[in-house]
This record gives sequence, C-alpha cells and structure tokens, in this order.
Amino acid sequence: MRVLDRLEQLYAIGGGPGANRPHPSAAEDEAHVLAAGWMEEAGLEVSVDEAGNLCGRVPGSAPGTGPIWTGSHLDTVPTGGKFDGALGVVAGIEAVAMAGQGTVVAFRGEEVGCVGSRALVASASASELPNAFFELHIEQGPVLEQAGSPLGVVTSIVGYARGELVFEGRAGHAGTTPMEGREDALLTAAAAILRINAAAREIDSAVATVGRVEVEPGGINVIPGHVRISVDARAPDSGRLQRLVDAIGLEPSQLNAPVAMDERCRRALLAEVGQRELPIVELASGAGHDAGILAAAGVPSAMLFVRSLNGGVSHCPEELSSEEDVLLAVEVLTAVVRRLSTSS
Ligand code: GLV
Ligand code: MN
Ligand code: MN
Repeated sequence: MRVLDRLEQLYAIGGGPGANRPHPSAAEDEAHVLAAGWMEEAGLEVSVDEAGNLCGRVPGSAPGTGPIWTGSHLDTVPTGGKFDGALGVVAGIEAVAMAGQGTVVAFRGEEVGCVGSRALVASASASELPNAFFELHIEQGPVLEQAGSPLGVVTSIVGYARGELVFEGRAGHAGTTPMEGREDALLTAAAAILRINAAAREIDSAVATVGRVEVEPGGINVIPGHVRISVDARAPDSGRLQRLVDAIGLEPSQLNAPVAMDERCRRALLAEVGQRELPIVELASGAGHDAGILAAAGVPSAMLFVRSLNGGVSHCPEELSSEEDVLLAVEVLTAVVRRLSTSS
C-alpha cells in the first residue's frame, strides 16, 4: 500500500533505531523534499512558506491556500514512531488528490512547540488561512484499541506548558569529598522530579514529565554542580493546567491552551464514520497537535484518529497502526475534504 510504503521511506531517513527527524535537522529537510516530490507526482502545486511549511494545493485554489486544508508534521521526537505526524501528511496527499480539492500541508517542528503552525497563524491574514483544517493522526493511546474501533473523532486537545528548571550545586571530587556537606545539584533535581510527579497525581487527568536531564560537568567522578531539567505539564482545561504549573513552580517558555474541536467539522467526520457502520468513538487528545494551534487561531479544525495497536504506545519505534485502519481513515478524510470543499 502506497501510504505505508511512503511511511517506510520517511522512517529510513534519519537512521535507526526509530524515526529520527528532529526539528530543525537535515533529516527533517530531507523528509520535506521527499513529500514535495510526492505532492508533485499527485499533480499538486507545491509551495513552501517562510517558516518552511510545505503546501500541496489542488490547482485552481487561491495562491497558498485552498478552502479546506489537511495535513500534519514530518518532524519526530528522537527514536520516534513511523506514524506520528507522517501519516497525516502522506494520507493527506492521497486525500486531496482523490478529492480533487483542497490543500495538504506538512508543518515544521510540531514536536518542539508547533513551530510551523504557530508561524503560519502569526503571519497569515485571515483570508490566507484555511476555511477549515482536518488533521489525521495516529491515536497514540489505547482508547480505540480497547473500544474495538478503527477510527475516532477528537473532541478537544489538551493544554500544555513546557519549560526548564535549573539547579545549582558545587562541583567537586567524587572520591575525596565527604558525603556530609556536599552540594550535589542532581540530588536537588531528583527531589524536584519526584515533587513534579506528585503534583500531577494530585490533579485529576493532569500529567507531568521530565524527559531531559542535563548534568554538568557530567564526569563519572565529579559531583554534579549544575543541572537543567525539562518539564512538560498537561491538563484538559486551563484551570487545572495553571494549578499544575503553579505547583511545579514552572515559568513556561511554551504555553498551549486546551482547545475544543469545531462542532461542524467534527460532525462531518462523525457522519462519514457512521456511514461506514463503524462504531462512533469520540475522545479527547492528550497529545498536542498542529490542529490545536489552528483551532486557537480561529480556524475551524477537527481531528480523525486512527487506532494505535501495541497498547497505544507512541513516541517510540513500537508505534503501530494497521493497513486496513489506515485505508479506512484515508477514505473518511477524502470524503470529508470532498464534501466540505463543495459545501463551503
Ligand atoms: C506531541 O507529540 C506532543 O508532545 O503532544
Ligand atoms: Mn504528532
Ligand atoms: Mn509526537
């Protein structure tokens, strides 16, 4: 199947294990070049905006835009999966080509704060933004697998805050400095990491993760003098997110408010899912997405999730969806792009 073949080609780019196309990188650039070729092959007019976002437009739409957009991102986390982001771009090319309508977009840098979609909404005038945006994405969780449903329609996208905390200590000799009186910055950071975890557990449906720890000087025989940790904190509504941020003592460098998906766009997806006599499952997204940035900027947006297998694991090489589920998703996306393009 062409979509899965193309996902394999993208997966091969950064070298294994896993997908390695961080933003910015030569690997992300290479993925954009490959996708641009596929867009041209599909007869789309290709353009790249100032942020490096790649658009493939069915000829005849206004320059740089089409009334209905679909797409996702081509960057990945380190050792990521095959489907996250890439599926929405590759399937989007199929959908707009088959619908003969609309624009497919590959955004830059979604994993590091939705760099590309943010740049788009910051720079484009209202008339340059899509009339509606549909993002097809792997679920990245267990809900659809547990429900026995190949597809799901997203109700809302979680809010998240990201930032760093820094801990200072005093570097010293690991062998000659008595345990008493040490100022080990990593010990202070470790206590903070436990507190961050406890803070998230205190708030219903909140999560918090420390995914990166930088220790300096970083010698095996040196007491850590300086530690920097990353914090990713999430909650389904702004009130809970703020409580979590306050409890952690985080000054976020990135803050994405939780956002609801557009009712009409959701209904369009639900109608197509229902027509195929598939179970109707609506679910909230615990992951951030470019659709959230567009929705927050006022673009009516919705997301179609494809069932994750393997218990819903994601951001790792075991991330998986089946060929049959992907085919169904492409079918639904194509039908919605076609229908809304002609009715908007
Ligand atoms: C994007 O994948 C996120 O971190 O939610
Ligand atoms: Mn993604
Ligand atoms: Mn991701």
